[in-house]
Amino acid sequence: MIRFAALSFVFLLFLTCNTVYFDDSEFYQLISSDNRSGADFNNIARISLTLDNAQIPSGISSRILNNVSNPAFNNELNFIIQNVDRNFWILVDKENALSRDYTPSDLVQLENSSFRVNRNDLFLRRIAATSLEEMSIAAMTEGLTILVSSAYRSFTSQEQIYTRNVNQMGRQAADRVSARAGHSQHQLGLVVDFGSITNAFAQTREGRWIAANASRFGWSLSYPDGYENVTGYSYESWHYRYVGKEVAAFIDKYFDGIQQYALRFLHEYQKLN
Ligand code: DAL
Ligand code: ZN
Repeated sequence: MIRFAALSFVFLLFLTCNTVYFDDSEFYQLISSDNRSGADFNNIARISLTLDNAQIPSGISSRILNNVSNPAFNNELNFIIQNVDRNFWILVDKENALSRDYTPSDLVQLENSSFRVNRNDLFLRRIAATSLEEMSIAAMTEGLTILVSSAYRSFTSQEQIYTRNVNQMGRQAADRVSARAGHSQHQLGLVVDFGSITNAFAQTREGRWIAANASRFGWSLSYPDGYENVTGYSYESWHYRYVGKEVAAFIDKYFDGIQQYALRFLHEYQKLN
């Protein structure tokens, strides 16, 4: 009798377990929603750590953290990491250098066309040259002519420029306006210096038009006014980097248009992968 009672109890227990753990669809829903929030939680933790590591200011950080459950931010971020040429968003600054032998493989020579060149030895990566052409045609329709004054620089030519600047103004002053060899974005073949290469450019019609329109074509101002402590360089209203349309939109939408913040964020995010 006791044995029968014990066996019945075990059987009933089995039925109960069966009902609760194997057949109940709510349980599966619970598991999957638990998994979903686990993934969200991991994502939020990762973004939050990235923001800290990249030293993104608190105003921008909290806006991004409020956006983090919005699929747009994650989709745009993942699209960039997975699909956009890494050289469009690689961080090249005072701490992060390109190697001495990094040379883009698809440099093309720039010639007077919809834009003007101020010398005959200017080169850009093909995709940046094409985009520059597109942007210049748009500027032309508003009666403006874009002038290209500097573009790709090899490691060796940057070395010469930096040394000349040090000789002319001393190392401390040179470091505010000129990158050491390997540390210049110009070595990517994705950068143009426009116009006079002075901040008078910002006040010209061309300078104002480029400031307002460049990001539509995938270009981003690298060294904005008032951000020397962030970028390492004083204001350069003429120095634009081609980052592609997706990265340019990402910089504007989430990082107040500050390229250095966005690229630092992508750099740190990538490191956690
Ligand atoms: N003038 C910028 C910082 C460069 O030398 O690349
Ligand atoms: Zn420049």
